[in-house]
Amino acid sequence: MIKPHGSDSLNPLYVQDDAKRAELVQEAEGLHSVVVCSAAAANAVMLGSGYFNPLTGYMNKADALSVAEKMTTTDGVFWPVPVLNLLENADGIEAGARIALRDPNVDGNPVIAIQTVEAVETFSDEEMASMTENVFRTQDMEHPGVLALNSVGKVAVSGPIEVLNFSYFETDFPGTFKTAYQIREEMAALGWKKVVAFQTRNPMHRAHEELCRMAYQATEADGILIHMLLGKLKPGDIPADVRDAAIRKMVDVYFEPNTVLVTGYGFDMLYAGPREAVLHAVFRQNTGCTHLIVGRDHAGVGSYYGPFDAQSIFRDDVPAGALEIQIFEADHTAWSKKLGKVIMMRDAPDHTKEDFILLSGTKVREMLGNGEAPPPEFSRPEVAEILIAHYSK
Ligand code: ADX
Repeated sequence: MIKPHGSDSLNPLYVQDDAKRAELVQEAEGLHSVVVCSAAAANAVMLGSGYFNPLTGYMNKADALSVAEKMTTTDGVFWPVPVLNLLENADGIEAGARIALRDPNVDGNPVIAIQTVEAVETFSDEEMASMTENVFRTQDMEHPGVLALNSVGKVAVSGPIEVLNFSYFETDFPGTFKTAYQIREEMAALGWKKVVAFQTRNPMHRAHEELCRMAYQATEADGILIHMLLGKLKPGDIPADVRDAAIRKMVDVYFEPNTVLVTGYGFDMLYAGPREAVLHAVFRQNTGCTHLIVGRDHAGVGSYYGPFDAQSIFRDDVPAGALEIQIFEADHTAWSKKLGKVIMMRDAPDHTKEDFILLSGTKVREMLGNGEAPPPEFSRPEVAEILIAHYSK
């Protein structure tokens, strides 16, 4: 296992001591409180879980703009995306105050964290635009990540936080939601040293299954960490519980026991393509993984990014030594009719497109919606069954 990003050991911001946490819950009752946006709550969960090590809270304007522009905080910490608590207005919130942050995603808006406010600053329209452009490479409000960042207010409340719970993730995804320190513990208990992580927000079809197997073999890893996003998605994406069930089924039936951990993290999808791939690498390093698979259109949406931009960013823009985790670059992977197995296209220069079984996402959704399983070369029948049941609801 490798060291976390930016420090020798992980410093998760969840208050683990029960007595101390109870004290803070008590304190929160008397504090000025504010319901934060979903992205800010997700940031609290990631900070609490140790995934966002070594950050200690929400960024101020200077750090957010610096990170957006050059992937480095003003103190020189390598970080790929702003981590913000943005509000429509911060009336009654002043530097130096302690405030209670309420969770927008749980009934009754319980307090998710206490923040010690360092600054309250407003982004100008120009600053919002440049931050958006730098992170997403577009300002198009049709882009779900651009829309999310630009529809929650421009007032940044920065400063350290103490996290009191993991929002809805622990209750809604028991056994799947894991913190970075829990993953480190589980991998240590299994004796895994070299581990390859697979990021996903989708159910896994045969290409994804084989991608994991290929990376596992090529890196001579001890195990595979399937690490799925459990937070908010754009409309039309398969919900996390259905995806979780489909992935677990695939692992149970088709992988050797004790070679795969199926886990998830509590974050809303940014759809920021290359920048999100770098964030993915940072927080998989924090789980101790030595490799992250980055394939075709990683964390992308629509046609905002080139199919392999999320790989080239590591070569072109991530300074040498900034991260210890290594990227396993995967080419477009699909079933070869000629060879009768899933391969990476770069490994079959003699093939044409017609030699592969290629189905668009739209086509697959249409088939599943009609109760029709995609061909077994594309989807495992057990996985197709779970997805068909979802679409029939
Ligand atoms: S993501 O938004 O979480 O990246 P998705 O779950 O679709 O989306 O993909 C998970 C990982 O598999 C990403 O690294 C992605 O690049 C890779 N991937 C998905 N499909 C393919 C494919 N057919 N060929 C190569 N890589 C792929």
